Amino acid sequence: MTKLVPEDTIEREVYHLYPTHGLLNDPNGLVYFKDQYHVFFQWNNQAVNHKYKEWGHFVSDDLKHWQRLDNALHPSLPEDSAGIYSGSAIVKDDKLYLFYTGNVRDADGHSVASHQMWAVSEDGIHFEKLGELFEHPEGYTRHVRDPRVWQGKNGHYYLIVGAQRQVDLTGDILIYESSDFKTWQLRGSLIEDVLLDVRGYMIECPDLFVVDGHTVLAFSPQGLEPDAIRHRYENIHNTGYVIGRFDENTARFVPETSFTEMDRGFEFYAPQTMHVPHDDGTVRQILWAWAGMMTPEREMMVPTIKDGWLHVLTVPRELHVTDALKLTQEPIDEILRVKPLRDLVDPPVGQYTLNTTDNWQLTLGEDFEIARTDNTIIMRRRQWESNLWETRQITGDVDQVTLIIDHDIVELYTDGYQQVMTARYFK
Ligand code: FRU
Repeated sequence: MTKLVPEDTIEREVYHLYPTHGLLNDPNGLVYFKDQYHVFFQWNNQAVNHKYKEWGHFVSDDLKHWQRLDNALHPSLPEDSAGIYSGSAIVKDDKLYLFYTGNVRDADGHSVASHQMWAVSEDGIHFEKLGELFEHPEGYTRHVRDPRVWQGKNGHYYLIVGAQRQVDLTGDILIYESSDFKTWQLRGSLIEDVLLDVRGYMIECPDLFVVDGHTVLAFSPQGLEPDAIRHRYENIHNTGYVIGRFDENTARFVPETSFTEMDRGFEFYAPQTMHVPHDDGTVRQILWAWAGMMTPEREMMVPTIKDGWLHVLTVPRELHVTDALKLTQEPIDEILRVKPLRDLVDPPVGQYTLNTTDNWQLTLGEDFEIARTDNTIIMRRRQWESNLWETRQITGDVDQVTLIIDHDIVELYTDGYQQVMTARYFK
């Protein structure tokens, strides 16, 4: 159970992190630091839209009980005057460093520039800004954002950012390297000659991490063509992963699989992972994503807006890689408390298993249903604005299903946790 302290006056969700007011989007700076788990997030705490962003801050001792802290970063410099955009965290010499993108708008409110920035903290709560990391790269439009930093095996630091190429307005991921953690050298494109078919017009929120000995590159391309036949890329923006190798010498990613969508429901974007080391030398890699439907490109009236808030994060999911090089995502043990699902009409908020070879149909109110037919699961939802039914579907071994049903979001896990569908529903 995700219990927030101090108690919110209204409990909007039981298992999911949500903003008290305003608009939440990407999880940021996910990090385990000085015995605490930190989840920062994109937050407009002034209005329910995307016009302004700070980094909100949740902290937890156990990944179950969360506390809301004051905002970690807010606009205060010319380089970040219109918003603290997404980024990541890294611990070095007992200090917590945050890397983020500063957004700048002109007098008419149009974004005109982005700057890659950093900040430092001794206690994980109060941050001192350290300024801009490097100049804007040549040959790229102002769409450069979402720095993700890690330390390589060679001791050097690597930083990747999502970007848009000037020459053909396609998405890219740039990589920088630093041996002293201060000066960064541009090494070019992490994906120079590869993944050409899944770049869209912009790539956001790249993440590169190791799970079970495999290197995983996850990213969120914008503008992929929907593929109605294979039921892929059907959301406005989509997120996927590729498993492969990262070559520290060339600073290039070498894919060993194709790009696979991470979640096939209606709402899932801009995930990030937390690296959690344990005393016995093992590590866990835990993912959160933004379960949101209103992007800056698509304003819409979502039912919660009338209550002054919008969007939640997914539950934390532990990642593994199978022998067949598929990523699995499983709700973490700390929160998973399932019981068999008995009543398929309007089951209450809870966590359930549905293990059967029979077909079934589950409803959540009048406008949302999930049906299993043979090896297919279809989610159907009546869109609250258009009143039109929309669907998402997956195919696989669906005899075992885990469902996390919260007040207005459901997460469905199946096919050995290789397939996940996340969706908001409103009764
Ligand atoms: C992804 C994103 C990021 C950006 C942030 C701004 O959802 O567009 O690329 O940094 O949101 O809130």
